[in-house]
Amino acid sequence: MILEMRDICKDYPMGKGVAHILKNVNLDVEEGEYLAIMGPSGSGKTTLMNLIGCLDVPTSGSYLLGGRDVTTCNNKQLAEVRNKELGFVFQSFNLLPKLTALENVALPLLYGGVKKAERLERARAALETVGLSDRVEHRPDQLSGGQCQRVAIARAIVGKPKLLLADEPTGALDSASGAAVMELFRQLHESGSTIIMITHDRSIAKHAAKLMTIRDGVLSGGDDYE
Ligand SMILES: Nc1ncnc2c1ncn2[C@@H]1O[C@H](COP(=O)(O)OP(=O)(O)O)[C@@H](O)[C@H]1O
Ligand SMILES: [Mg+2]
Repeated sequence: MILEMRDICKDYPMGKGVAHILKNVNLDVEEGEYLAIMGPSGSGKTTLMNLIGCLDVPTSGSYLLGGRDVTTCNNKQLAEVRNKELGFVFQSFNLLPKLTALENVALPLLYGGVKKAERLERARAALETVGLSDRVEHRPDQLSGGQCQRVAIARAIVGKPKLLLADEPTGALDSASGAAVMELFRQLHESGSTIIMITHDRSIAKHAAKLMTIRDGVLSGGDDYE
């Protein structure tokens, strides 16, 4: 099991009380799974993704990532888990505007302490995987939205993460670019990647092999499409 969440709750202070945003979430993800979590706006998707991605800590509950209890990690350890074990794809790409595609993709390896020649070689290979070998020297403002998202996917996979996380990965794209991103996820899944994708869009969610839904902070389902 790559990911095991038990009775995860997330509260935020609200006025004099608290708002219960995630309510006793249980989630198991095995190696090689491709899971979509679907829910309407405000249902808690991003809050859940931030917990899965070790960007935030739960109020209560247990979370094992690759068998390791990440709820007891300090900030430095969490940063290392994010760098070594996880790859992130966001709706808004989050590329650094002054860096080329190649430099953006190589950046997580720099933080990970990989030497320069290997960084560049692996970044080139990741860009080839996403079909952008001819755009390595382009900056984000010289690329289309769909190409930027493919650079972001290359950056997410360059460190060979245990788990690829995507929050509304097609949310800012036209339908053709969105379809290209879904095709890329299909290929990554086929070659063994474990993917969790969050979306409010059923037509996007159906690309995954398995679907769960979240409503008012309650996660349910787990229907297999395959
Ligand atoms: N930092 C925060 N403080 C208080 N409430 C928050 C915070 N972040 C999110 N929320 C609330 O939690 C709920 C779920 O938000 P979110 O996880 O962003 O939903 P989604 O991604 O499904 O649209 C919303 O009602 C939102 O207002
Ligand atoms: Mg969201």
